This record gives sequence, structure tokens and C-alpha cells, in this order.
Amino acid sequence: MRSWTIFVSHSLVLSITTTPSHPFTPPAIPLRHNNYGTKSFPLQSSKNAPQDDVPAVYPLSQRKALLIQEASRLDPSIAKDGKGSYSPIGWSNRLGAALTPAAPDIYTADRPFYWNKIDVGCRMTVVRLSNNDLVVHSPIGLDPPLLEALNKLNGNVVHVISPNYEHVKYAKSWGEHFTTASMWGCPGLMEREPQVRWTGEIEYHARPVGYAEWSGVQNHEIEVERDDKTWDRNELQPLHIDVEVNPFTGRPFFNEVIFYHPRSKTLLVTDLYWNYPRGDGVTNAQVTDEIGVDVDDFGVWELAPSVGEIPLGSRAWKVGMDKLFRPFYNNFMIKSEQRDKFQQIARFVTCGDSSGGWEVETIIPAHGDIVRGKELCRKVLERHFNIRCDDDCRGSLGHTLSEGKDNADSSYLEPHYTSKTTLEWLQKMALSYKLEKGEDLLEVLLRESSNGHVSTMRDSTHLKDHLLQLAKVCAQSHLPIASHDFLRDPTGMAIYNYGNRAFLDGFGYEWDEFVELPSKKCVETEAEVEERQMLLDAVKEDAAKACDGTSSGGIQELTAKYDNLIRVRKDRRKILLKGVNLWNVYNLSSDMDLDSARNDIKNGDMKAIGQAVWIKEVEYLV
Ligand SMILES: *[C@@H]1O[C@H](CO)[C@@H](O)[C@H](O)[C@H]1NC(C)=O
Repeated sequence: MRSWTIFVSHSLVLSITTTPSHPFTPPAIPLRHNNYGTKSFPLQSSKNAPQDDVPAVYPLSQRKALLIQEASRLDPSIAKDGKGSYSPIGWSNRLGAALTPAAPDIYTADRPFYWNKIDVGCRMTVVRLSNNDLVVHSPIGLDPPLLEALNKLNGNVVHVISPNYEHVKYAKSWGEHFTTASMWGCPGLMEREPQVRWTGEIEYHARPVGYAEWSGVQNHEIEVERDDKTWDRNELQPLHIDVEVNPFTGRPFFNEVIFYHPRSKTLLVTDLYWNYPRGDGVTNAQVTDEIGVDVDDFGVWELAPSVGEIPLGSRAWKVGMDKLFRPFYNNFMIKSEQRDKFQQIARFVTCGDSSGGWEVETIIPAHGDIVRGKELCRKVLERHFNIRCDDDCRGSLGHTLSEGKDNADSSYLEPHYTSKTTLEWLQKMALSYKLEKGEDLLEVLLRESSNGHVSTMRDSTHLKDHLLQLAKVCAQSHLPIASHDFLRDPTGMAIYNYGNRAFLDGFGYEWDEFVELPSKKCVETEAEVEERQMLLDAVKEDAAKACDGTSSGGIQELTAKYDNLIRVRKDRRKILLKGVNLWNVYNLSSDMDLDSARNDIKNGDMKAIGQAVWIKEVEYLV
């Protein structure tokens, strides 16, 4: 336990020092060739895509087609083989194009960005305002193909914005090249980077129109000092994240200004949110994993093809950012007295509707994949900021979450409980339960669950989907439920992959850390580790016997012997578990014949891929 804690805090410190900071090494162009696979799509060739025909609102499929058409106009090679002619394809530029259309009047320049030889990716965004002025956000290295692509946008580069302390490396060269463009920085940037030909800074505490009304803050709390040279602030709205302080320096870390383009409902963020891809390079599969099944993102599509396996360094970077930096940012970088303000900002950005706030339908992060779809964007931001839009603005970040946990009546479910990965695993758990114990897991849980909310779920007619119902009952049951698999560790060591709310509360863990925890971490002494291992092995070995088709008594007797187990929480308090129902999880699918699976297990042809448990009663020992 101790070494785990040390590992975490040590890595946090590491992650601070390894968060993008300058100087970076610039990406070399042309890029080194890599082995990324690419999928090519037949693309319509452009008929000179007249800009003015683009309606303000149109259906998703049409929007997609128009974006593809515009991409081929910018780079004719895209029409030919589905790839851009700018660079080889990789996760940080999936299309290989100099400029990729992302939404109406929004274009992105996606580039690799090397930090200690690790590609951390970097994206510039260009917004074409209604007067045809181009606004460049988070500029990347300027080169002839990019200039040529910019020339095709029928506008001039009039504004260049460096939105935070980190994304400023190329501002100087843009200022030198575009001598008449206005150069803008986030608050405080002019002093930090004096070598840039600045025009001005976006004002401290910048807020978009309607912020005061929506959030109920007084107008005079929002300072407005605008420069005459600025762009139309209604068309591209800035919001200063004025709540952070680096605990090591006492100063803001990113000091980012984020932007919203209402016409295309696009959010531009550089480091406040990131979306690094999953290891297999499938576009936005990481989002589907985390958020759930009902998503309307394009996923893998013509302008964001799958790219094959992501290099190890970038994968490690993702883990560092998601698992270490995000909690660190939320817990330590937001000044404690600013929590409410941060939540207010997060809600304005995430929860907007017709009555106000930003109604984001496309998120363009500087790092990682673009996210699309109104519902999905909201879920993604809710998860990232740790807030819930259907919750009336209550208290601070952590507070909201724990309230949700205690409130069994809440219909809210953390997205990891209904993610695709979880649903697939729960199905295997339930089928394996049926196979070993002969009972329907959902029925058992409904029968044993004493909390009213869960038992009413039996009759709820809107839960037609059996699997989804199982997921909800499992997540919310007062009976602790958990499982581990043997699949992720090369030596087959058991690592947790599921813990319902009751289990996580009981053991004192958060989901994210729990699902990477070797399961022997919840026992304390060597003797307990051994005892626990014996129990698990016995269950495994006994499975063959129990699966002889006649009775499942073997396992039940065995479990009964271990009716009183002592385990240790993360905070080292001990707990007594009574009525431990353990079973093996097999790789079963719903169309499988359970009898023949039983045979396979008996003959040793099918091995358990994990084990699961539900516990009847838990007592805290002082
Ligand atoms: C489970 O079985 C499916 C085929 O039914 C297979 O594709 C998959 O790789 C298996 N998973 C594991 C973890 O063995």
C-alpha cells in the first residue's frame, strides 16, 4: 500500500515537471516515415466548393460531406487517395494534410510536436470570421504548404492568438511574417515573452457575452478592457480560466483563455482539455470507452482515419496526462477558494442550452482528437471537469460527486459504469454466473438488494435493454461487487477491472485508480495474501468439478468456508466481509451454449479470464 502511495505522489511530481513546457524541439518536416497503416476512402472530387452556399445549419451527414469536399479543395490529393499530401499519416495528423476543415469556417493544422522524442501532438485552429478575416489560434510552425493552404481560405490572417503560456513558441515568427496582423496573448504573456511583436493581451477575467446573466454573477465582477483592434467578440468569444495557481510557484500555470465560435458551436481549448487517442489508434475509441455507447461522434471517418498503433512514448504520455495530471490539476492547481468559480466556468462551458451558456457541438483540443456531437461533447466535458449538468449548481467539485454517491435515488451514473468495455465485461460476468451458479445474476442482485431505488429497477419499463439494466443495478446496488481479470499483466497477475459504487466507497478508492490496481493490494499481510490466493486458486480449480453439470455445490461450500474475510481499505482501516460470493469469469458470449462451455472447462479447454465477487455484508473494524 505504502509503495503504491509513494509511486503515485512521485509520479505526480514527475508529471508536473514533464508537462509541456518550453523549449520544445520543433517537428522536423518532412517527417520521418513511420509504419502507420492508413485506410483510404473514395472521396468526391471538389467542384470548387463555393463557400457561400454553405447553410448555417444542416444535418450531420451533409456536414460531413461538405467538410470532405472542402478538404479536397484545399488539397486535391485527398480526393485521389484519401490522404493529404503534406506529411505521412500519424495520430497527430491523421489525414496528413496541411489544413483540415473541422467545422463550417473552422480549419485545423494538426502536427506532431516532440517533447523529449515523444510526440505529444499539437493543433492550430483557423477561424474564418463572417467578414472573411482569419483568426489563427495557437499557431504552429509556419511553412510554405501551410501558407499556401491559408491562401485558399479567401481571407487574410488578421489576428493571431497565443491562448496560454505554453502555446507561444511560434508566435514570434508569425508576427514577423504577417506584419500587419494583430498579435494577441493570454493575460500576462507579453511580459513573459517580450520577443514577440505583440498587439495586446486578452483582458484578465475575460468573459463571453451572457456570462453574467447565466451564472448569476454581477456584471461589475467582470472587467472589460477591450482593445479597439480586437475582433468581433460575439463571433469568437473568449473566456479566461482565471482560477489556477501552480502550487510550486504560486502563479497561474497555463493561464489559458478558451474560445467559443457560436456559429459552428465549436469550443477551442489548448491545455484545459486534451483527448489523446487510445493505443490502437482508432479515432475517439478512448471516448467511447469512457463515456458509453450512445455516441454521435464521427469516430473513424474520412478526415480522421484510424492510424494503427500509437508509439509507446505517446501512449505513456496519455496515461500520465489522464491518470496523473488531470486529478492533480483538478485537486491542486485550482486555488481552493476558486473552486466555485471554476465550477461556474465549467458549467457555462459544458451545460449551455437555449437559455444561455455555450452549446458546444465540436471540441477542438490542441492535443488529441476532435470530439463531435452535442450529447457527447457535454458528456466528455462533464467527465473532464467532474461536474453534472443535470445537478443544480451545488457546491464545489468533490462535493457534487460525493453527493451523487450518497444519493441512491439519483438516476445519474458515472459513465464508466455503462461504457462499452464495462458492458461487455458485465455480460461475461453474468453468463459465467449462470454457468457456475445456475442463477441469473440480475435476479440475484435484485432479490438481495435492500435499497429501494435498486429494487424498483426491476419493474422499470424504460430499461428494456437487459444488459444496461444489469449495468445500472450492479453500479448502484448496496452489495459491493468487484472483479479482476488476468489479461493485462504479462504474468497473469489479477488486476481489478470493475468495482461498483458500494465496493469503491467501502474500500476507499476512486474508479480510475482502482481499475489499475493489482487485486492483492486490498490485503495487508503476507499471510493474508497467501490465504487470499489460496481461496482464489481453489475457486478456479474447483470450477472444473463444479461444472460437471450436476451441481454447483463445490463452489458454494468452498465460498461458505470463507464467509468471514478480513480485508484492508486504502486508508488501512480493516473491514470484515461476510457472505462472499466468488465466481470465475469466462470469455463467454450470449450465443454460446453453456453446457458445451461447461464441458470445455471440465476438460481444461476453457480457462477463466477473471474472477468476480458480490458480498452480502460488510462491517468496518475500528
Ligand atoms: C473472447 O472470445 C472472442 C471470440 O468469441 C475473442 O475474439 C476474444 O479475443 C476473446 N477474448 C479473450 C480475452 O480471450
